[in-house]
Amino acid sequence: MIGTGYVGLTTGACLASLGHSVVCADADPHKVERLREARVDILEPGLPETVRDALDAALLDFTGDTAAAVAEAGVVFLCLPTPMGAGGAADLAAVEAVAAQIREELPPGCVVVNKSTVPVGTSERVATLLGRDDVAVVSNPEFLREGRAVHDFLHPDRIVIGAADRDAARRVADLYAGLDAPLVLTDPASAELTKYAANFFLAMKLSFANNLATVCERLSLAMTIVADITTPRERGRYQGYFMAVFGGASIVGPLVGGAFADRAELLGIAGWRWIFLINVPLAAAAAVAITRVLRFPHRRAPSPVGRRRMG
Ligand SMILES: NC(=O)c1ccc[n+]([C@@H]2O[C@H](COP(=O)([O-])OP(=O)(O)OC[C@H]3O[C@@H](n4cnc5c(N)ncnc54)[C@H](O)[C@@H]3O)[C@@H](O)[C@H]2O)c1
Repeated sequence: MIGTGYVGLTTGACLASLGHSVVCADADPHKVERLREARVDILEPGLPETVRDALDAALLDFTGDTAAAVAEAGVVFLCLPTPMGAGGAADLAAVEAVAAQIREELPPGCVVVNKSTVPVGTSERVATLLGRDDVAVVSNPEFLREGRAVHDFLHPDRIVIGAADRDAARRVADLYAGLDAPLVLTDPASAELTKYAANFFLAMKLSFANNLATVCERLSLAMTIVADITTPRERGRYQGYFMAVFGGASIVGPLVGGAFADRAELLGIAGWRWIFLINVPLAAAAAVAITRVLRFPHRRAPSPVGRRRMG
């Protein structure tokens, strides 16, 4: 595991809890020292315990030496930061630097898995940088939420693996064998796109849910009941979206100004960022329009959630 942030540490510790032997490498020596003593600096329920149990079972180790970490690995995960760079595109500097750093060290037959959120085409780019015919590159985007990282890793609603090589895909899938989740096998580009598309879709749902809640409050209606009736397949989920805020740079940045928009425009799909900028207000406007179209009277004093006035 290269990179021991939210994604790398959670993935490493949880894979170790499933019985795999994991070595986590990080460029930050202070972090490595602390993690060796099971001192976890990020607030994730269950993560310190998972790290400690895996250390005690000798299934998890930490190092500052990336080359040494991959020397005997069967599968190498890249869990590196991909912040918004100049002009809005994803900054792949860390991914590219590590690919160059490990290219000579990877054992023959090794699989490199990209778990970072990256633009379409990054798997190909990493494969080119590695320049190794005997090493497969696979995309395995991560959908965990901060604050629920361990739970989301152990109970995912899908595991997406994008690979050109079926054997490499199967080897990555086998790592998750202990988890009960649908496995989606696809090509690398589709896997990469799903992560951005999922963030985009979530951003629109959050915006719609919050605006629907405002309308319901004005009408003294229970938003959760209205939402469940409107979208029965999402029953209960809007309670989670309601009052939630966009996940900061990781959701809005890549969508509005960043990698997703940037990539779409490179592909000649001009105006992608405008699609996002228009869609979120549209989702909000749709909620507001419900009241206007139906000409509901404006009610000043909202009644408690769950009670609906009649008449
Ligand atoms: N945080 C989330 O909720 C989340 C969810 C899904 C996907 N992602 C994506 O996963 C990727 C990683 O996110 P994160 O939140 O874990 O990042 P993070 O910043 O928490 O952790 C990244 C780690 O990589 C290390 N690092 C940086 N450069 C390195 C190098 N050259 N060699 C070794 N280690 C290096 C850093 O020291 C840090 O510990 C990003 O692409 C992010 O968009 C994040």
